[in-house]
Amino acid sequence: MKRTFVLTAAMVFCGFSAWAESHAADAKTAETAEAVTMEQEVDLEAAEKIFRKSCRACHGNKAQGASSYPSLSDKEPAYIVEKLERYRAGEKFGPNSVLMIQHAKKLSDSDIVSLSVYVTTAFD
Ligand code: HEC
Repeated sequence: MKRTFVLTAAMVFCGFSAWAESHAADAKTAETAEAVTMEQEVDLEAAEKIFRKSCRACHGNKAQGASSYPSLSDKEPAYIVEKLERYRAGEKFGPNSVLMIQHAKKLSDSDIVSLSVYVTTAFD
C-alpha cells in the first residue's frame, strides 16, 4: 500500500515536470507553470476512473491502442493535452476525430491534465 503510494507520487512528479517544461514558454515562466500544475493536482485516481469508463474500450486496457485506435501510453503528457484540447474544441484533424470529439467535450481542464499523466505513466 505504502509502496504503491510512493511510486505513484514519483510518477506524478516526473509526468508533470515534463508537462510543465514543454508548456513553459521560457525559463522565466517555468516555475509558474509548475506551480499552477501543482495546484491543479494531478488526480490519478480520478483519471483512472474516467479512463476505465470512457477511454479503454477503444484505446485498450493499457492505453496501448489497436488498429485505428492510437496508442496513448507511448506519448508525452503535453502531446495528449494538446490533442484533447483540440478535440474538445471540436477540431477534426484525423480520419476518426468525430469519435474523440464527443468524448473530449465532457472533460474539464484538470481531467485533461490528469488523464495525460495517467495514460503516459500508469502502464510503464
Ligand atoms: C469510440 C472510441 C474511442 C473512445 C471511447 C476514446 N477514443 Fe481517443 N481516439 C479514438 C480514435 C479513433 C482516435 C483517432 C481520431 C482521429 O482520427 O483524429 C483517438 C485519438 C485520441 C488521441 C490522440 C492520439 C494521437 O496520437 O493523436 C487522444 C489523446 C485520445 N484519443 C484520448 C482519449 C481519451 C483520454 C479518452 C477517454 C476520455 C478517449 N480517447 C476515448 C477513439 C476513441
